[in-house]
Amino acid sequence: MSVRSLIDITDLSTAELEELLSVAQDIIDRPGDYAHLCDGKKLATLFFEPSTRTRLSFEAAMYELGGHVLSVTGTATSSAAKGESVADTAKVISCYADIIAMRHPKEGAALVAALNASIPVINAGDGGHCHPTQTLADLLTIRREKGRFTDLTVGLCGDLKFGRTVHSLINALARYEGVRFVLISPEELKVPSYVKTTLREGGIPYAQTTDLEGAMPELDILYMTRVQRERFFNEEDYLRLKDSYILTPDKLRNARADLAILHPLPRVNEISVAIDADPRACYFKQVLNGKYMRMALILKLLKEAGRL
Ligand code: NCD
Repeated sequence: MSVRSLIDITDLSTAELEELLSVAQDIIDRPGDYAHLCDGKKLATLFFEPSTRTRLSFEAAMYELGGHVLSVTGTATSSAAKGESVADTAKVISCYADIIAMRHPKEGAALVAALNASIPVINAGDGGHCHPTQTLADLLTIRREKGRFTDLTVGLCGDLKFGRTVHSLINALARYEGVRFVLISPEELKVPSYVKTTLREGGIPYAQTTDLEGAMPELDILYMTRVQRERFFNEEDYLRLKDSYILTPDKLRNARADLAILHPLPRVNEISVAIDADPRACYFKQVLNGKYMRMALILKLLKEAGRL
């Protein structure tokens, strides 16, 4: 890998997370200072899987820094349809752009791209593996809502097996003192064992349960997720599990007054729209926070690559 990329959230040290959070806050406070920092620079967004938020968030981030965007969406209209490898695509795009944001259905695809590109690659989601920039959005939201990353009981609910945002968020928060996880899912959709190994080896307290309402009173954060239909091997299992958890106002009866409810979106029906007006609902704030964090990340990686 010739230049620094972001493949996994663990690629960033705690100090670097702080640096990104503080740049994002400065962007919020003084957007004008950032409006031309990427003049003439190009971001290539290569999205080989459906996306609205993440791709547009990266593109909006680059435009707000004064830069340009080159975009590939879907495999049908790109050379991937002709059988081009991720490695070759990464080499080719390196000739056109300054930085790549890539989403791909295969775990490890972003790493392969980074190993072959001569420009920074940002993993915008690789299969059911990880999604580090969603975690950056989640972290800024937690910082703005709770003011801290320490001493938090964090409930993660839904599809913890295939939900890549969950895996990255656990890896990010696991480094802070006093964080405790409550993993709420159906038996079939528990977190993968490699994530549990990280928790166990780090001595990080966690509980596994199927009972959302039972866990509710102790939670500082509730991170709801969609059941990831596209990763199931058969539709029958999906149909059986898709409505396992639906957050409705009555389920919040025993929740804390200062609970923060997060969701990476898109929402299917895991959170009733009746909750949107609840001051504890933070999922639309998360979207905006994601753009600021992606701006901070693009600046950092371009600078480290000597392109700014
Ligand atoms: C998530 C993803 O793509 O993993 N969406 C997003 O990027 N905000 C979550 C999901 O698709 O359920």
